[in-house]
Amino acid sequence: MKKELHPAKHVGGTISVPGDKSIAHRAALFSLVAKGPVTVKNFPGNADCQRSLEAVQKFGVRIEKSGNTIALTPPESFTFSSDDETIVDCGNSGTTARLLAGIAAGMPITVTLTGDESLQSRPMKRIIAPLSEMGAEITHNDFHLPLTIRGRKLLPFEYHLPVASAQVKSALLLAGLASSCSVTIREDKTTRDHTEIMIGTLGEGIEQRIIKPVAVVDPNDPRKKKMEMPEPFKKEVTLSSRAVIHGGEVDIPGDISTAAFFLAAAAISGGTVTVQHLGVNPTRTAFLDYLKSVGATVAIKDKQVISGEPRATVSVTGGKRKPRRIAGETTVGLIDEIPIVAVIAAFTPGTTIIRDASELRVKESDRLTAIAENLKRMGIKCGLLEDGLAIEGGNELPGADFISFGDHRIAMAFSIASLFLVGPSTIDDDSVVGISCPEFYTLLDSITK
Ligand code: S3P
Repeated sequence: MKKELHPAKHVGGTISVPGDKSIAHRAALFSLVAKGPVTVKNFPGNADCQRSLEAVQKFGVRIEKSGNTIALTPPESFTFSSDDETIVDCGNSGTTARLLAGIAAGMPITVTLTGDESLQSRPMKRIIAPLSEMGAEITHNDFHLPLTIRGRKLLPFEYHLPVASAQVKSALLLAGLASSCSVTIREDKTTRDHTEIMIGTLGEGIEQRIIKPVAVVDPNDPRKKKMEMPEPFKKEVTLSSRAVIHGGEVDIPGDISTAAFFLAAAAISGGTVTVQHLGVNPTRTAFLDYLKSVGATVAIKDKQVISGEPRATVSVTGGKRKPRRIAGETTVGLIDEIPIVAVIAAFTPGTTIIRDASELRVKESDRLTAIAENLKRMGIKCGLLEDGLAIEGGNELPGADFISFGDHRIAMAFSIASLFLVGPSTIDDDSVVGISCPEFYTLLDSITK
């Protein structure tokens, strides 16, 4: 439904946000490779994670809910024979589709994965190619969904990720777990490591090697030293063929990618927003570093590690904002936060440049185009680049009629923008926020006046 949005006179308050979507998907899907029950606390009620729950239920996992605690009990044995065909509708959820493809590839089953129009347009070659190399038989629609996966005993596999993607890394690790075969993955840019952590929390058999640059003698000038990477990658993850998931408990911290919208409102307004029990896994906190670098104050308190994942109370207070250039590994760290980074840039004097962000073109929408269109609607000068954006900050901007492009993060980002515009705005479809945070507008009301 179309929603009216109004400027805020004041932003501030303390909130908790729903459990982390990435961790919740993994906790649900791990029940397919676990020997015993998996209990998940603080499971979020969003539409995407519901897709992962429905998927595992189709495979015979029993689900019992009590509030936001979910107990997942795997069946004694998965009863599929290789002739069985199960159709799983992954809806809008890329994480369900890609991670489940990995699991299915390593099980003696046949499964067809499909999804909504947006998901059917998203690239799947990135998982089809390596899973096929491992021995899975996958038919596809020109490397898009629907995929039919005929799983089997897979071959040991070593892979250097050609695209910085935690979903691809996780799909291959889960394929290894499902098929009891060793998998080694090397990555050039650090991506979120929730799968690696969960293997350690619910089971065993994973090792990580972080490669650090070392000082070597400069061959051009033996008096000097230069920093060099001793290996042509940054991280190596090795899953043993004897890796096992026993089951156990996962307590999910708040989702930093959801909190980012409310923390951004603090950064733009100059007020203070505090988020309790927030996930602060270092592979996910680039947005907090970004906020500091553009002038906000960020305070992190009461840090503790639960289920292998760090969490803390995080407060952000807005300050005088300055623009910056984002590229390379910083863009990877901000991959889900670029829409809200663009909104902050719109209220920051000077030019913000975002590069190396072509992955945004294949998210739930073409996010670069969606951002540029909405910024234009609020009177911002924005250059749309092949792999990014150049955003000229403005002030005293008029209210606008925003378009979500069916994308939850676009709807949430421009709902935040509307708080700081002169006059009312609208968003064409407020229901899309339910993909990751159905509580979004209630939480927003609680921190705005
Ligand atoms: C996710 C990884 C990221 C992110 C997505 C969730 C995950 O995608 O954009 O929202 O849970 O692993 P890629 O791995 O494709 O970059």
